[in-house]
Amino acid sequence: ADEPVILTETDGRVGVITLNRPKALNALNEATMNAVVEAAEAFDMDPEVGAILLLGSPKAFAAGADIKEMKDRTFTQMYASDWFQAWERLGRVRTPVVAAVTGYALGGGCELAMMADVLIAGPGTRFGQPEIQLGVIPGMGGSQRLTRSVGKAKAMDMVLTGRQVDGEEAERIGLVSRLVEDEKVQDEAREVAQKIASFSKPSAQMAKEAVAAAFETTLQQGIVHERRIFHSLFATADQKEGMGAFAEKRKPEWEQA
Ligand code: HXC
Repeated sequence: ADEPVILTETDGRVGVITLNRPKALNALNEATMNAVVEAAEAFDMDPEVGAILLLGSPKAFAAGADIKEMKDRTFTQMYASDWFQAWERLGRVRTPVVAAVTGYALGGGCELAMMADVLIAGPGTRFGQPEIQLGVIPGMGGSQRLTRSVGKAKAMDMVLTGRQVDGEEAERIGLVSRLVEDEKVQDEAREVAQKIASFSKPSAQMAKEAVAAAFETTLQQGIVHERRIFHSLFATADQKEGMGAFAEKRKPEWEQA
């Protein structure tokens, strides 16, 4: 019971957050939610960290919000505490987040994976929104993020029936960035995080911001937003370095790498 709910470390320029309740299949209780959000915000503010890597355990990335913790709550308690609201802070983290999605990613686990920017999974990964089987619905953004990423047909199927989709289907429908062998999911995700972290941090953060804007705005607003960000990067030393290095046929040395 004294085990920390998450483990954190830095690996080079990658901030690693490992969910650490394997016996409960990394069920996301309140303590875990707060710890993940706080760790991610701390990494976000650290100029030495260029990407965040989110890991679960081989059997479960996370099997959902903690059902045992929630089951006796009343509407008033859920509403008054605005339950799950803290997860929105993770969505506001500007540093790119890579998730290694191994095993079960159900309910809140699927929703947490979808808050990441790059998802790596294997054939054995199981994504699902089983809340309908518990008499509720997704509560951490699942009905919204899933629909935006895979469209109505697949989202309705998953949310209304609770059907799990495996890694291959998840990759086919656009939920997953890369599909690799199950045993290689964590290593691949770490490499992706290292790659992102090797670039200029402001560039990577603004690239994330620009892509994320596609979920929030009209096409025209998004394009103007992108162009402003693009223009603003010409104020950074890393733009001069990156383009200068190309012209001089050498490797760039980033100010923040
Ligand atoms: C609390 C959980 C849990 C969860 C698993 N456990 N998932 N505890 N909350 N979401 C616990 C089990 O109770 C068990 O504890 C231990 O983890 C191992 O799980 P088992 O069920 O014994 O493992 P297995 O038989 O392999 O089955 C794996 C599983 C199953 C298919 C993933 O655990 C499962 O169906 N879990 C619930 C999935 C789910 O419904 N998630 C959505 C939650 S709601 P003990 O003490 O017995 O060893 C949600 C959104 C909330 O996330 C939004 C609405 C408010």
